[in-house]
Amino acid sequence: MDYNELSRLAEEARKNSYCVYSNFAVGAALLTKDGKVYTGCNIENASYPAGICAERTAFCKAVSEGEREFKAIAIAGGPAGEAPDDAYPCGVCRQFMNEFVEGDSFEVLVVHKDLSCSVHTLGELLPHSFGPKSLKK
Ligand code: THU
Repeated sequence: MDYNELSRLAEEARKNSYCVYSNFAVGAALLTKDGKVYTGCNIENASYPAGICAERTAFCKAVSEGEREFKAIAIAGGPAGEAPDDAYPCGVCRQFMNEFVEGDSFEVLVVHKDLSCSVHTLGELLPHSFGPKSLKK
């Protein structure tokens, strides 16, 4: 699975976004270390805080199926009906992902308008993080 294909799958997942309040559609494609892909989209709610982001939808699908080893996630987001435009993961999603991955190796792909992507480690996006190891000291 190359990162262009993972970006395309995030854009594909974005089509299922339920974003009737913000009109901001996000799709995510999460790649496991053994090559499986779990997709997700944002799902909003009339009670706004009950909504969930695309990244957490993808992680919840994967973790609830027993997956624990992850390599990368592609994120495609932007106004619904328009091309994706550099949607970086929110702080809650950065923290949520940090629970399951190593920040120095897990890669976050931010999808550009032309479906190319920028690649960051989660550690770059969430430096000095608080995670499972913090509780074991
Ligand atoms: N959203 C995501 O799905 N992922 C993020 O990392 C940022 C925000 C969603 C939440 C909400 O449905 C919409 O984008 C506007 O904030």
